[in-house]
Amino acid sequence: MPKLLAFCGSTRRNSFNKAILKVAAQGAEEAGAEVTLIDLVDYAMPIFNEDEETEQGIPERAQAFKELMIEHDGFLIASPEYNSSYPALLKNTLDWASRAAEGESMMQAYRGKAAGIMAASAGGLGGLRVLMALRMLLENVGVLVHPNQKAIAKVDSLLDEEGNVANEKTIKQLKKLGADTAKLCANINAN
Ligand SMILES: Cc1cc2nc3c(=O)[nH]c(=O)nc-3n(C[C@H](O)[C@H](O)[C@H](O)COP(=O)(O)O)c2cc1C
Repeated sequence: MPKLLAFCGSTRRNSFNKAILKVAAQGAEEAGAEVTLIDLVDYAMPIFNEDEETEQGIPERAQAFKELMIEHDGFLIASPEYNSSYPALLKNTLDWASRAAEGESMMQAYRGKAAGIMAASAGGLGGLRVLMALRMLLENVGVLVHPNQKAIAKVDSLLDEEGNVANEKTIKQLKKLGADTAKLCANINAN
């Protein structure tokens, strides 16, 4: 059974991206994966500074997040698009996770892993551009990104009053993305 870590590039309380991530995570679980859904608000870490890293080491929460990544076979990542790219929160988190502590191998959090990526926006493109940037970043650090990706446009019109995704077609698409990612991770593990 593959283990997936699900996290979101937004810590906003009523985040659209948290809402779509939850549905993809359900799809992965229904396909047999074990999913750990986390909120990056619980892993707040300073903006990366190499001098501070040299002097003080990797901050506790950055190390804890990286260890979670290492323990999982793959990732489900939902991200807002900020000015056509990923938010600083997500990039900073992924940068910290690329730093090896003593005893860890280079890019241990990333290499041999797979990911499913998604974005949501009230705009008409649904955050499609952040997915291109995020795909490139992840592939460059050794993560195989599933070709199925979802940019959910006009997401505000697809939610119920509690902020959950309520549109059947969108739910089906997101669950398939979660299931596809789970299957990709299982296939990688089998080889
Ligand atoms: C700094 C900033 C830049 C943004 N740039 C874009 C953008 O390029 N494309 C887009 O669709 N939405 C953009 N937005 C709007 C976000 O899609 C919107 O805030 C969204 O709700 C963020 O995701 P969340 O609901 O998961 O927090 C931007 C928002 C902020 C704060």
